[in-house]
Amino acid sequence: MRIIAFRHKKRVSLQGPGSITKWGMRAVGNFWNQCSYLLLALLLTLVPAHADVTGNSYQMRRVADIFDPLSRPAEMIHHSAMVVLLITAGIFLVVTFLLVYIVVKFRRRKDDDGDEPPQIYGSSHIELAWTVLPILITVVLILVASRTIGEIQNMPMPENALKVRLVGHQWWWEIHYPDLGIVTANEIHIPVSSRDRDKARPTHITLQSADVIHSFWVPQLAGKTDLVPNKDNETWVDPYEIGVYFGNCAEYCGSQHANMLLRVIVHEPEDFDRWVAQQKAPVVAPQTELETKGRDLFFNTSCVNCHRVDGTLSAGVFGPDLTKLMLRQTIGAGVAPLTKENLWQWVKDPQSLKVECLMPDMQLEKNEVDAIVAYLMTLK
Ligand code: CUA
Repeated sequence: MRIIAFRHKKRVSLQGPGSITKWGMRAVGNFWNQCSYLLLALLLTLVPAHADVTGNSYQMRRVADIFDPLSRPAEMIHHSAMVVLLITAGIFLVVTFLLVYIVVKFRRRKDDDGDEPPQIYGSSHIELAWTVLPILITVVLILVASRTIGEIQNMPMPENALKVRLVGHQWWWEIHYPDLGIVTANEIHIPVSSRDRDKARPTHITLQSADVIHSFWVPQLAGKTDLVPNKDNETWVDPYEIGVYFGNCAEYCGSQHANMLLRVIVHEPEDFDRWVAQQKAPVVAPQTELETKGRDLFFNTSCVNCHRVDGTLSAGVFGPDLTKLMLRQTIGAGVAPLTKENLWQWVKDPQSLKVECLMPDMQLEKNEVDAIVAYLMTLK
């Protein structure tokens, strides 16, 4: 974790309001400290990495870095954004130069006679120039943008593309793998693809919404696409490198819009297969007395109305699927890292971590929370 913190010290903290200080990035130490981290990171790359299926040991990619695309659609958008940036930078320079030139040349001087300058009305040449030229520039910009949009939208998906269905909720993401029979939340696990089109294995994502309009945006992987109720939108990602990519809802959807965070965890193919196998493995029944008590409490309170645990009577669909809860990195759609303490706090009073989230304070006693958390920690 320290290595990750060092390498990406610019990364904004995902910390929400509250007491989750661990989540903040560590202050970077002195030069030698940094060197030792770097050395350790290098050594770690030499060890044949067998990441745990949660991807916790993966490199955290930079947040919202549109200038460092690592997936084909993001790269295509980056190219046209650069063209647009060049054209607009040219306009900016010309306008600024003319403005500064005129301000300096026609400034008030000591020997100014105080007369008004000549008043000129109408010049069809100049008016034509400042109407036609901007129209031409705008047409070029429209063509650049629509070409990229068309290319991304119409890209044929190969047979081997992984299919994911993403459903936006206030304020979390429901994730389905229709071909694999997996349901999870807030963290999309996918295999790494390749720059080489013959070896590429893109992930095709169908976007839906359960309530209001949300927007899928993982800047290093793909541009924004809205999740609209009663309409299926589509996008795809094609990541070139493994790691954890950050995204967030990019369409204001209510008070916790800013805490509707999304992670895309990109695995080596074999690690992805291990993640799939782990997701499909049956959940082990509670072992200890506390875990059993927790399970009974879970089933006797309203938890089951909103959450699903595969293979049990708990089949709610309003909240995230908890079948493999402990294989995730965060809770509350990225509001806090998934640790026992944060989970305890969440079960005790979700509103303390995420104000106005739809999970109510269940008014549980502390020993009841202990038991439920013990049960939840068996879900992996
Ligand atoms: Cu969902 Cu903003």
